[in-house]
Amino acid sequence: MATNEAVQQEVDLDELEPILEAFKGERWGLIPLLQRVQEKYGYIPPDAIEPIARSLRLFPSEVQGVVTFYSQFYTTPRGKNIIRVCRGTACHVRGSGSVLKIVKQNLGIEPGETTPDLNFTLETVACLGACFLAPTMMVNREYYGKLAPPRVMSVLKQYAPSKKEEGNGEG
Ligand code: FES
Repeated sequence: MATNEAVQQEVDLDELEPILEAFKGERWGLIPLLQRVQEKYGYIPPDAIEPIARSLRLFPSEVQGVVTFYSQFYTTPRGKNIIRVCRGTACHVRGSGSVLKIVKQNLGIEPGETTPDLNFTLETVACLGACFLAPTMMVNREYYGKLAPPRVMSVLKQYAPSKKEEGNGEG
């Protein structure tokens, strides 16, 4: 089964240097610095905590504390495509449970997890603000509504990695 512990990435910490340089010694810059790091890697790699702390003259535990405190920061890699399935009341009464079940079964992950190929991250939300489309889900910035099982499948297919991408290593 795919768990977030299974999804680990080698990160090139050389790419961190210009970001650290821009905030060197500026303790006030911790949050904007972390935002820049997340823009670069898609999350805050654990290996980046110590160099960040050194650069700002903080303890690693202080940096880790901020990363953990703010929900805007992710501590594990995120998928290329973020699927958000609505679990709000309007969607619930119109079958969001089945939508979520199909997505989970097809991707082999639970909410909060990312597929090992880093193509999908699955999340649930309380309301996507499109109750008239219930049951609703979003993939990245696109809304998909009035979802029946075949439609859920076709949306997932639409975002699946292409055979070309998968076969890049050949030849
Ligand atoms: S309850 Fe699902 S979009 Fe509002």
